[in-house]
Amino acid sequence: MSKSKKAALFICLGNICRSPIAEAVFLHTIEEMGKLNEWEVDSAALGSWHVGGRPDRRASKILQNNGIDYSHRVRQITKDDFNKFDFIFGMDESNMRSLNKEKPPGSKAQLILLGSFDPQGERIIRDPYYDDNDAGFEKCYQQCIRSCRAFLEGQP
Ligand code: 4NP
Repeated sequence: MSKSKKAALFICLGNICRSPIAEAVFLHTIEEMGKLNEWEVDSAALGSWHVGGRPDRRASKILQNNGIDYSHRVRQITKDDFNKFDFIFGMDESNMRSLNKEKPPGSKAQLILLGSFDPQGERIIRDPYYDDNDAGFEKCYQQCIRSCRAFLEGQP
């Protein structure tokens, strides 16, 4: 991890729905802001079920439909991540509880609920994995757009 760059890691349960969308949206937003070279960005899972796999096709479709190029292989969060990344973003309260439990004492990462930056106040990015349509994915995308932009606008 480069010393001069800030580093952000997006976390959810499976790393196939919410955190890949959040990572892709964050990357797209820093590109639009001309800040691509200021950040290291990644996403990872709390669980091991999908390690090595690709994001859910519904997540990839939302990104494609919005003109965002993104490729990812699922990985699981490691203890080292808590010292590599400055910011680790969770999607819901359950993610935050798991992150707080896994964080080694004294490690540098700030653990933050991504939706806490949403100017519309929707704090929880609900898991759309078990939905039988795309509406939850579209909503997740919109929440990520608002929260990533607001977070980045508050960064020096
Ligand atoms: P995600 O959604 O955490 O947003 O990637 C899930 C994907 C898979 C599972 C749970 C949540 N799963 O239990 O396999």
